[in-house]
Amino acid sequence: MSIDSQKQAAAEAALQYVPEGCCIGVGTGSTVNHFIAALARHRVPIAGAVSSSEASTRLLQQARIEVIDLNSAGDIEIYVDGADEATRHLQLIKGGGGALTREKIVAAASRRFICIADQSKLVDVLGRFPLPVEVIPMARSYVARQLVKLGGQPVLREGFNTDNGNVILDIHNLKILDPSKLESQLNEITGVVCNGLFARRGADTLLIGTDRGVDVLKP
Ligand code: 5RP
Repeated sequence: MSIDSQKQAAAEAALQYVPEGCCIGVGTGSTVNHFIAALARHRVPIAGAVSSSEASTRLLQQARIEVIDLNSAGDIEIYVDGADEATRHLQLIKGGGGALTREKIVAAASRRFICIADQSKLVDVLGRFPLPVEVIPMARSYVARQLVKLGGQPVLREGFNTDNGNVILDIHNLKILDPSKLESQLNEITGVVCNGLFARRGADTLLIGTDRGVDVLKP
């Protein structure tokens, strides 16, 4: 089964977690694109969706799913999103698509986070995938120096601005043995808007598309 078919299988499996008549949170990325397509194809009767990016907003609108402002939505029942890496403890690296800040906000506002991914994303230790950090542009060099002190090699994502008008530093060569601690340390650096570690609030359910079907992982 191709990676894309595994993503599609995980996305389809997430449909069973979608409560009818509710507003749901929708993440960003190619796996989530399959989820949005599945919502439309199966005509799942939801009240609407809070989107984590301009890209997902466009797809939701094309699928004729109402996009609801988070400030009007209250608490959201479930949030469905992908990941760049995931452990069996359901701690994640996200932000490969640069939408990490809005993704973390929608995840925080949601009761349950259903993470959908293909099997290549499952790892024992986070950090092979460069960890994205969203940074206020004027703080870029200062933040990069602090990241080097933490043992990483930050690389500016060239030609990329987030939906919030900021830049991304991707930290290479980190072996993340204590994801929650590193998440807090990164948050404390002045100029950092958000980092791509979803450890303190990881996923509640991880759906991994594999060649044998979809594995369901819970903490
Ligand atoms: C975007 C993300 C995505 O969830 C992550 O990059 C996974 O993407 P894909 O589903 O395309 O593999 O965090 O900011």
